[in-house]
Amino acid sequence: MALSPQFLDELKHRFTLSDVVGRQVKLIRRGRESTGLCPFHSEKTPSFTVNDQKGFYHCFGCGEHGSVLDFIMKTQGMTFPEAVEVLAGEVGMDVPKPSREEIERQKERASLAEVMEAVSGWYQTQLKAQVGSRAYDYIKRRGLTDQTLERFGMGFAPASRSALKDAMMARDIGEDQLIETGMLIKPEGGGTSYDRFRDRLMFPITDRQGRVIAFGGRALSKDAKAKYLNSPETTLFHKGATLYNWANARAASYDAGQVMVVEGYMDVIALAQAGIDYAVAPLGTALTEEQISHLWQMADEPILSFDGDNAGQRAAGRAVERALAMLRPGKSLRFLMMPEGDDPDSLVQREGRGAIEALIDKADPLVSVLWSNLTTGVLADTPERRAGLEKKIFGRLAEIQDENVKGLYQREFRERLFQQFRPNNQRGQQNQRGNYGRNQPYSPGGKKRPAPATGLLSKTRLGRGSGGLAVTDVIEKLLVFTLASHPEILVRYEEEVASLEFTVPGLDGVCKALVEKAAFGDTLDREAVHAHLEAAGHMDTVRKIAADGALKGDWFAWPEAALSDALTGFEHLMSRYQHITAARAAYRQAEAEYAAEMTDENHERFVAAQAAFRALEEKEADKDGYRLESGRFSFI
Ligand code: UTP
Ligand code: MN
Repeated sequence: MALSPQFLDELKHRFTLSDVVGRQVKLIRRGRESTGLCPFHSEKTPSFTVNDQKGFYHCFGCGEHGSVLDFIMKTQGMTFPEAVEVLAGEVGMDVPKPSREEIERQKERASLAEVMEAVSGWYQTQLKAQVGSRAYDYIKRRGLTDQTLERFGMGFAPASRSALKDAMMARDIGEDQLIETGMLIKPEGGGTSYDRFRDRLMFPITDRQGRVIAFGGRALSKDAKAKYLNSPETTLFHKGATLYNWANARAASYDAGQVMVVEGYMDVIALAQAGIDYAVAPLGTALTEEQISHLWQMADEPILSFDGDNAGQRAAGRAVERALAMLRPGKSLRFLMMPEGDDPDSLVQREGRGAIEALIDKADPLVSVLWSNLTTGVLADTPERRAGLEKKIFGRLAEIQDENVKGLYQREFRERLFQQFRPNNQRGQQNQRGNYGRNQPYSPGGKKRPAPATGLLSKTRLGRGSGGLAVTDVIEKLLVFTLASHPEILVRYEEEVASLEFTVPGLDGVCKALVEKAAFGDTLDREAVHAHLEAAGHMDTVRKIAADGALKGDWFAWPEAALSDALTGFEHLMSRYQHITAARAAYRQAEAEYAAEMTDENHERFVAAQAAFRALEEKEADKDGYRLESGRFSFI
């Protein structure tokens, strides 16, 4: 459906965005904008903004952004044409009719869909008839109820080359249509067409609206060549763009806020029978990008389930690779490995729905699976191997298209590398033997690899939550620590230091006490200054910095360093710090301006300031790499 921009503009203008959003989100008016809690990610303070004038919403927390149509599509799980239809209906606008050519194509598809409907009905009748009794017994033995058979439209294709063909042609359905839908096979060199599916249990595959577009057929006899046979690609059926059980799962996943991807048709069906209605399956192939996009319309973090064997591990790895480039704010995948020897069907039949839900709760985020794929079994015991590993990791992360997500992945992996390989690692036994170790394999649901100590991701949202950024934290501590070790620096930099504002708690206090001491013209020898800090209750902060290990490699900051070196190091730090705080201030400013007025121009400026800040942050993070080689210092 190709609609003109004029029509879409007019449609959007008929709505006040905050009214539509307000049906689902409690909004508070604030000048020209309304704000509320973002419906696209979970948050406690509102960062979701609606600008009626511009007709856009924007979330400063997760980056979701769009018009009234986007909002309806995303929150209702609708396609674009569906959202247009619904909104146009509300205001009594007529959606322009498609062209004649489009109508022709629609008609043809509609008539092919009718053929498939007839075929499906006939297969179902066969399953209930005498000819289908063996198939019926089989499916009963596998624990499915009549109600489930009905719901999934399961049927039976008799062991005959022409049973379907005869039955359909008797209903005036053309041979060509049966060939076009893939139900009959027409031999290449001519000859009579014949039924594609014979002696198989039939699973109708529907499109997202629930219309039958293809079939999967499961062999009943052991000597069938393939256990499953699927319809070929046809006008109606594009394997890579479809999901089994899509139509049913759409509504269920919207309610549950969750969608689960399993490998087999039988898995989907057994789960639905047990009350888990939000499962879908790809159609005998690995997940495609298109399928992943569809899944993201159903839930933010679809859960992919795989067999717990090696093949399942490899399949999970392929899914990660497929998704990596596509990741964007709020959208990811989670991974669930079945216990060895089980598939969702066998597990849910034996242990019930709770067993599956327990696995879902424990599903691993994509970041862990990627980490494990990249590091499992990798020996990083020399600088060269270590560098090789880093090259591999950061090369892979470069595939992430979204700059924001990419930056945070790089940061997370840097942190994990640091935690994994830092000296005297108290966690991870292998590291107690030396500085480097061989990684353990990914063991989902079982023993979990310890998460990085600092929960880095929670710290990285600019200016939100507690503290600042990991990188600036380190710089701030270094600055203060250098001053405490070499108070003489204050003679030259008293004014600059007095104007610093720190984000790390406690540092401002230390700084103020230092400046006080300098301002009184007291001698700035270390002992006297420390006594002053001690008396003012700030010495503990200094000791804490000394103990926390992050500054071990920056020898100039320690009392043992020569004053001239301390001074050079300090000046260097100050310039880095001023750079990054200036970029951050510009970023905040641009963000505030954009929040105040969502013009394209302000958006551009915001994106540019964000990119500049992040680039600087990246550079800083690189400098603050791994200080593994430093000796141990003692402080006081
Ligand atoms: P499974 O062999 O796990 O099938 O293949 P299943 O659904 O669990 O079936 P049961 O329990 O053995 O009856 C998983 C999926 O892979 C595709 C099908 O989509 C199947 O559901 N497949 C499998 C094929 O396309 N062809 C095959 O020969 C086998
Ligand atoms: Mn199975």
